[in-house]
Amino acid sequence: MKDMPLKIHFLLGLVTTALLQAVEKKLNCPESCTCEVRPWFTPRSVYMEAPTVDCNDLGLLHFPTRLPADTQVLLLQTNNIAKIEYSVDFPVNLTGLDLSQNNLSSVTNINLRKLPRLLSVYLEENKLTELPEECLSGLRNLQELYINHNLLSTIAPGAFIGLDNLLRLHLNSNSLQMINSKWFEAIPNLEILMIGENPIIRIEDMNFKPLINLRSLVLAGINLTEIPDNALAGLDNLESISFYDNRFLKVPHVALQKVTNLKFLDLNKNPINRIQRGDFSNMLHLKELGINNMPELISIDSLAVDNLPDLRKIEATNNPRLSYVHPNAFYKLPKLESLMLNSNALSALYRSTIESLPNLKEISIHSNPIRCDCVIRWINMNKTNIRFMEPESLFCVDPPEFQGQNVRQIHFREMMEICLPLIAPESFPSTLDLKAGSHVSLHCRATAEPEPEIYWITPSGQKLLPNTACDKYYIHSEGTLDISDVTQKESGLYTCIATNLVGADLKSVMIKVDGSFPQDNSGSLSIKIKDVKSNSVLVSWKAKAKILKSSIRWTAFLKTENSQAAQSARIPSDIKVYNITHLNPSTEYRICIDIPTTYQQNKKECINVTTKGLDLEVKDYEKSNTTGFLLCLGSLLGVICMVYLYSCISQEMNYDVGRSYLRNYLKKQPFSFNELYPPLISLWDTGKEKSTALEVKATVIGVPRSMSSNTNTTKLNF
Ligand SMILES: *[C@@H]1O[C@H](CO)[C@@H](O)[C@H](O)[C@H]1NC(C)=O
Ligand SMILES: *[C@@H]1O[C@H](CO)[C@@H](O)[C@H](O)[C@H]1NC(C)=O
Ligand SMILES: *[C@@H]1O[C@H](CO)[C@@H](O)[C@H](O)[C@H]1NC(C)=O
Ligand SMILES: *[C@@H]1O[C@H](CO)[C@@H](O)[C@H](O)[C@H]1NC(C)=O
Ligand SMILES: *[C@@H]1O[C@H](CO)[C@@H](O)[C@H](O)[C@H]1NC(C)=O
Ligand SMILES: *[C@@H]1O[C@H](CO)[C@@H](O)[C@H](O)[C@H]1NC(C)=O
Repeated sequence: MKDMPLKIHFLLGLVTTALLQAVEKKLNCPESCTCEVRPWFTPRSVYMEAPTVDCNDLGLLHFPTRLPADTQVLLLQTNNIAKIEYSVDFPVNLTGLDLSQNNLSSVTNINLRKLPRLLSVYLEENKLTELPEECLSGLRNLQELYINHNLLSTIAPGAFIGLDNLLRLHLNSNSLQMINSKWFEAIPNLEILMIGENPIIRIEDMNFKPLINLRSLVLAGINLTEIPDNALAGLDNLESISFYDNRFLKVPHVALQKVTNLKFLDLNKNPINRIQRGDFSNMLHLKELGINNMPELISIDSLAVDNLPDLRKIEATNNPRLSYVHPNAFYKLPKLESLMLNSNALSALYRSTIESLPNLKEISIHSNPIRCDCVIRWINMNKTNIRFMEPESLFCVDPPEFQGQNVRQIHFREMMEICLPLIAPESFPSTLDLKAGSHVSLHCRATAEPEPEIYWITPSGQKLLPNTACDKYYIHSEGTLDISDVTQKESGLYTCIATNLVGADLKSVMIKVDGSFPQDNSGSLSIKIKDVKSNSVLVSWKAKAKILKSSIRWTAFLKTENSQAAQSARIPSDIKVYNITHLNPSTEYRICIDIPTTYQQNKKECINVTTKGLDLEVKDYEKSNTTGFLLCLGSLLGVICMVYLYSCISQEMNYDVGRSYLRNYLKKQPFSFNELYPPLISLWDTGKEKSTALEVKATVIGVPRSMSSNTNTTKLNF
């Protein structure tokens, strides 16, 4: 009870003081604004307790007439100010001025005279169109100038004269069509320049040369397709550069080589389609490399990232077509700790890629269509201390029995040690319409264990090996086919083949030139019975079609009413002989050959044949054996010979032709099948890439144990 009056007195005292302060503030403070001391950091990050006048977002049409004399920070963001009339009365100690989001259309309307203490000026999101000569020369201590998101189309060569201390300049999102190196002569201390999102037509040699102290340069969103080799010359202290969202088709590696102190490189969101040998090499200080969000990126080739002694992190994520990382893609990166490859189209990552990175600590490969067999097998062998990021998002899409399972949960012994090549479906499209005279690069990449060899077949049947040039063709060592100066002659079906000792994969592209491709003058498909026995029929066929898809369908069924269900086999396009077995004696069969052509139409030919009675069997058997032998000796067409041998070797021809062929393929290694054109093994049904994986599994099951434990073995004696 006693101290009650005391308390009241105290409270009254507080109220009075507050009121007095409010009145005092009101005297100086512009109407509706807030005036108080607030923390403020200078551009050099020096902390200040700055008397601040906050008039943000008040719909002001005019600059406030009177301001407290000690004002250091004046905030006028989001108003409708078009002109500053009373700049003479500016507080002498003003250090920060925010005029962003107003209606300023000319810098002369701002009328900034001598304000030697002003450090930061924010003018973004106004309607400035021009910066005339020496327009800000009174601001001799200015450190930060933000004029981004205006309508600047002209900057006079001497616009920045007097701003000797400028550290940061934002000119991004304007209407500049060129960059003038003269601008920069007045601001040699600049450390950060943002000039992206301008319709700049081209960057020129020495464009930034006066900026010897620049540390960070942002050239994002300019639609640049290339830069000259000396574009970045003189930027001796540049540490970070961003080319985010441009139109580079290739890494501008020559220009980048000249920025010797570069630490951070951002090439994200460019339509680069391969990272080639030497693209990032010998950059002695590079620490981080960003190649994310590249819609066209397919491959990171051998020695693409090479000899970067200080590199710590590579980020190559969200590249929807990135399906191949060469086992030697990353070389001499002694400090690399972090490799981000998530959210791409990678089916695997070679173990040697990882083993070449001695300091790797973490890796991210989740959200990729991982094929859970040989190539990725190392992942579960627990021989690595590398941390996998987001392992819960690391799923198998293939083979079918592991589909949807987490990669880390499959024991490595369940995964195959060797596997068929798999050409990434994203590598190149299945049809292309080119203009005459244009140039095209088709990137064929395949992963497999052992590593596959790649070659191409032209429409005329010519086989093109890596590192060879031929007329208008060039094949790069990694499997890219370049076709230059395309004419009608180059139209047609091109097929890429990837082979290893287990088998092959192929992928074709139909190239049209000016909308057309060679006419299918074949018309005919002829079918012949070569041999008839009591329980088998050897059938062969000839198709004149120049362009065939890689699968042929064969059907046999009984002629009688209560016939067995039709049976069929899919056969690679080059095989044109087939021994139908398990037939009944003295029965009439109807055999049909089905050839899907590239014109989306099927050619079909049928023939009726009656199997022999049992009594004729022995004689025919002998005869056919001799025929077969002669055929093998004399035939120039190795394929037929091989097929015949295969038929001889194969004890049973079951209906799972795919499996038999693959198994057979292994047996035929001594005949160096790789040399045959077209390839013997192919996708059984193009368009269903998934089925390859199925074949993969089938293949490896049939591999003798001795072979799968030593993948280098090529001597297979059967
Ligand atoms: C401006 O700053 C100086 C030095 O910090 C100080 O002495 C002076 O009183 C300030 N002027 C006003 C009007 O506050
Ligand atoms: C901005 O200023 C121009 C004159 O410079 C004027 O015509 C226009 O109405 C102003 N815009 C707004 C939103 O006040
Ligand atoms: C880049 O090109 C696109 C499409 O042609 C266009 O919409 C965009 O405005 C361009 N950007 C610049 C900064 O010129
Ligand atoms: C690897 O280690 C994990 C956990 O440390 C264990 O669950 C898994 O069975 C191991 N795999 C092999 C192949 O040793
Ligand atoms: C084959 O047999 C079918 C009836 O099953 C008949 O329609 C067709 O004409 C025959 N073809 C030949 C070439 O004899
Ligand atoms: C076709 O297969 C049958 C049964 O397996 C076999 O007897 C016959 O010799 C084979 N024909 C040829 C030409 O290989």
